[in-house]
Amino acid sequence: MNDLDSLLAQAASEFDAAPTAAELENAKARFLGKSGRVTELLKGLGALSPEEKKSRGADINRLKTAIEQALQARREALADAELQAQLKAQALDVTLPGRQRGQGSLHPVSRTIERIEAIFGSMGFDVAEGPEIETDWMSFTALNNPENHPARSMQDTFYVDVKDAEGRWLNLRPHTSPMQVRYARMHAATHAGQDPMPEIRVIAPGRTYRVDSDATHSPMFHQCEGLWIGEHISFKDLKVVFTDFLRRFFEDDGIETRFRPSYFPFTEPSAEIDMMFATGPLKGRWLELAGSGQVHPNVVRNYGLDPERYIGFAFGMGPDRLTMLRYGVSDLRLFFENDLRFLSQFR
Ligand code: DAH
Repeated sequence: MNDLDSLLAQAASEFDAAPTAAELENAKARFLGKSGRVTELLKGLGALSPEEKKSRGADINRLKTAIEQALQARREALADAELQAQLKAQALDVTLPGRQRGQGSLHPVSRTIERIEAIFGSMGFDVAEGPEIETDWMSFTALNNPENHPARSMQDTFYVDVKDAEGRWLNLRPHTSPMQVRYARMHAATHAGQDPMPEIRVIAPGRTYRVDSDATHSPMFHQCEGLWIGEHISFKDLKVVFTDFLRRFFEDDGIETRFRPSYFPFTEPSAEIDMMFATGPLKGRWLELAGSGQVHPNVVRNYGLDPERYIGFAFGMGPDRLTMLRYGVSDLRLFFENDLRFLSQFR
């Protein structure tokens, strides 16, 4: 092996031994740099005769090319290795179970409320929402609720430690009925001077609160108020509307309703609405569903309307109970415990 061949072998072995691109460039400088071995060889040419210079010069140039090729080969090998390492570090293990995105869905009671809104909406009812913290007047007085009525008492109603303008404790509304008054007053004001006033037709679903807790009562529960007021609205309209609503809600045209005389301070006469399924596991049993009645003249007056002229009905039902009946749920508390094993069944 002549000196040039051995220099090539040395360069190739140093290149191969360089573990990184930076060290490879250092090795390159040792051979091809300004004071590198090949450069030194070229400088030595000056001392040779023209004949020798020619053949030695050509040999050194070949060596230089060969060293550059070895360098390039190592550069590519290093770049390739780096890419492979990178790919390996970012590798996906396709056999790992995926991380699932939680699939959200509406709460069953929300679904019921949307359903109620859609059905009453199709019958021309507006949907209203109102405050959950109410004044004493809205929750009780305006609704013809006597001072000594039990719904007003501390055992039943949650009170807030803040007084309203009349010096009475605010309450967590124990029913959605105040929305009758809020909505009707707003409606009357909006249409003041219009004769006759356009009818009031509204439902008001929302959260309500009472000091009560067992399998069928929760301190927070839902109600949906309904109100239809005009010049000629009668109990017959209530029967038709509510029966139609139930048949559509439960998709059972055989459902029967029964209006059982009852008492509420804000209606006269008052009735409990019972229903009976024509099919299914509850078939043949009367189920209590809602309170209702013809709105009391005192309440119509509190709407800001003339009770001699405007008349109609109100009802209050429980979306929680409708949900229990629709899905066959026996314990109301399941709705409010937020157990995903329960809730995910309604997806
Ligand atoms: N507010 C009543 C309650 O919570 C339910 C009710 C009864 C509402 C009769 C009405 C009604 O609008 O007319 O028990």
